Amino acid sequence: MTFAIGVDIGGTKIAAGLVSEAGELLKRESEPTPDDSSTIPKIVAALAERLAGDEKIVGVGIGAAGFTSTDRTTVRFAPNINWVDEPLAEQVSALLDLPVVVENDANAAAWGEFAFGAGEDTDDLLLVTVGTGVGGGIVHHGQLYRGGFGVAAEIGHMRIVPDGIACGCGQHGCFEQYASGSALVRNARERVANGDPGTDALRALADGNLSKITGPALTDLAHDGDELSIELLADLGQWIGEGLAILASILDPRVIAIGGGVAGAGDLLLGPVVEAFETHLPALSHRPQAEVRLAALGNAAGIIGAADLARTEPV
Ligand code: BGC
Ligand code: NA
Ligand code: ZN
Repeated sequence: MTFAIGVDIGGTKIAAGLVSEAGELLKRESEPTPDDSSTIPKIVAALAERLAGDEKIVGVGIGAAGFTSTDRTTVRFAPNINWVDEPLAEQVSALLDLPVVVENDANAAAWGEFAFGAGEDTDDLLLVTVGTGVGGGIVHHGQLYRGGFGVAAEIGHMRIVPDGIACGCGQHGCFEQYASGSALVRNARERVANGDPGTDALRALADGNLSKITGPALTDLAHDGDELSIELLADLGQWIGEGLAILASILDPRVIAIGGGVAGAGDLLLGPVVEAFETHLPALSHRPQAEVRLAALGNAAGIIGAADLARTEPV
């Protein structure tokens, strides 16, 4: 039995795991994403070494939250991490003496879901990851669709609001400014800061420090029945569903899976997503409709997918 290391580098945390050929995640660990991105290769290498222990490792797959090069070596640009033309594969491989491949984080997660999760019953899957940013991964006819330059499915940056909120990509009104976990948290903090009605539970959570309002904490409140938290998740779901209707017009996937940290909200998010998707889908009831479901591998999809890509990539 051989293993690969999968790493998922997001805007908030770096998660890594030891993954078997069958896509089982045997061990996992994470570290916060540092402000100084030059330390990321060291953090990744240290995680990989700890996870590997005495096992035989065939390679390291990294899913990185940015635009990655076709040859799977470099992050060209990342909206939420300070990376420009970062030769990440080489940097990590020099520290570990193992082959390393770098793929977009959402592409890696889509691959993981396709091979071992929510896409196992289809050949045409769109995975949308909702976290710090919004990512997309397309599996078409059983293959990862990477586009002409390796940067397909950057769905977080389709413009959904003309002249809307400024985005880390340099544009305004991008989908991820409305449909991400960051947008959810921004909206929640704004409501509390404004002293809006219904904010009692969120204000108690913040306890004088708005940074305590995080996606997972808000989701817990929603699960406990806090109406405003439920409403904020529904607003988020509404944006996501609208975006999915646009994407379905272009891609016509059979299955759309929602992953990323915020998918932990479960039906509180999925219900509004499906409702908005159906409300905005062109020619509804005269067309086959994609099934929208939650990603099956949860937060582990990126790790598992990246590890699998490390095995299959000819190096
Ligand atoms: C980035 C994508 C990434 C997504 C999710 C976006 O801001 O542009 O490359 O997949 O966030 O992390
Ligand atoms: Na992508
Ligand atoms: Zn953008």
